[in-house]
Amino acid sequence: MKLLFALIFIFTIDILTLSIVSASSNFNVLDYGAIGNGKADDSEAFLKAWNDVCGATEDSPTLHVPDGKTYLLNPLKFQGPCKSNQVNFDLRGTLMAPSKDEWPSDGADKWVQFYDIEGLNLKGAGKFDGQGSLWWKDCDRKHCKRPTALFFHNCNGLQVKEMKHINSGRNHISINDCNDVIFSNIQILAPEESPNTDGIDISKSKNVLIQDSFIATGDDCIAINEGSSDINIIGITCGPGHGISIGSLGKDGAYNVVENIHVSNCLLQGTQNGVRIKTWQGGYGYAKNITFEKITLKNAKNPIIIDQYYTSYAYSRKIKGMDIKVSDVTYREVNGTSANEDAITLNCSRARCTNIILDNVNIKMITLGKEAKAICQNVDGKFLSTVPIVSCLSKSH
Ligand SMILES: *[C@@H]1O[C@H](CO)[C@@H](O)[C@H](O)[C@H]1NC(C)=O
Ligand SMILES: *[C@@H]1O[C@H](CO)[C@@H](O)[C@H](O)[C@H]1NC(C)=O
Ligand SMILES: *[C@@H]1O[C@H](CO)[C@@H](O)[C@H](O)[C@H]1NC(C)=O
Repeated sequence: MKLLFALIFIFTIDILTLSIVSASSNFNVLDYGAIGNGKADDSEAFLKAWNDVCGATEDSPTLHVPDGKTYLLNPLKFQGPCKSNQVNFDLRGTLMAPSKDEWPSDGADKWVQFYDIEGLNLKGAGKFDGQGSLWWKDCDRKHCKRPTALFFHNCNGLQVKEMKHINSGRNHISINDCNDVIFSNIQILAPEESPNTDGIDISKSKNVLIQDSFIATGDDCIAINEGSSDINIIGITCGPGHGISIGSLGKDGAYNVVENIHVSNCLLQGTQNGVRIKTWQGGYGYAKNITFEKITLKNAKNPIIIDQYYTSYAYSRKIKGMDIKVSDVTYREVNGTSANEDAITLNCSRARCTNIILDNVNIKMITLGKEAKAICQNVDGKFLSTVPIVSCLSKSH
């Protein structure tokens, strides 16, 4: 009997110790005073919980955001570096931004920021709600500083899975200065009329994979910008929106470089563009080694477009004759329908686009009886099994 008691005693102690160890690397925002009623400001609770997660010495500590609740968060920054080289953010509930009326008056231009965190793993079927409608309505496109919703800076080894993101005031997600990144199975939704609500913007980042996600917004589904290389976009359904874009590059005379981009197995439906490369006149640098492969288009206005005259508004420092050099771009197995007659537009500057290849491209007009066509300027390359024929393309030498 005594022995049995002793055994049970030891066993119980064991279980207790175990649960203490695991509890200490799990941090629940409710334990830090978060209310989750969508009205009380939960920012302080989240930041306190984050401090403990980030300072935890155990492997792979987790911040829990329980479901069934809506947490109102003012603009805030989850700052690293953290003690552990993997940190989990388990998002189940909804994180909600203040609306424009309640936005703090300090002019913060980003809502939730993740900074300098190694191995951040943001997963769970929770939601970010940017509450953008007042921003879209009340803001002049040019002058009003609308906020970016989610901003990742210097987060190497970042993984984002499953979450849903709706109605950002401006772009939904920026990936800036992050290497070795994977985004998968996420959803981004905003109305077609919402201005500048890009899905995912990538800049100054290397080795980024975005896969199996659904993006429908008022601007680019994905934009690959300055300083990006080794970017893989696979299995994205996009639309409405402005399509998948490289750029814009070279704004206001800037030096910009983008290379080694692979976009494949994507569906673009009802988009303003399909796959686009856009550069400003007078910038310099290059965009090269870009492949768009196995792309299906449904009623896209400009299915394939290179636009080196992307000058929307205030455009000053134009240096004539200098431009971003676009080269080694392949379109392979691109099929579907165009809303415009100009289904293929290769409008390059005097710097010329070189080695532009169209291989197994088949684009028809959505309206029966009308012929799709291709227009080009300053382009060298070739086309194989391509409809419409791209006779305006100069042959490569
Ligand atoms: C072109 O980019 C791909 C990735 O999309 C990469 O695997 C390949 O090595 C690059 N080619 C050159 C010549 O850099
Ligand atoms: C494009 O059409 C070709 C020929 O009909 C077909 O073999 C290919 O699988 C299609 N690709 C896509 C991505 O739809
Ligand atoms: C290229 O773009 C310029 C500026 O928008 C425009 O004037 C020109 O007509 C375009 N050329 C072609 C071939 O589309």
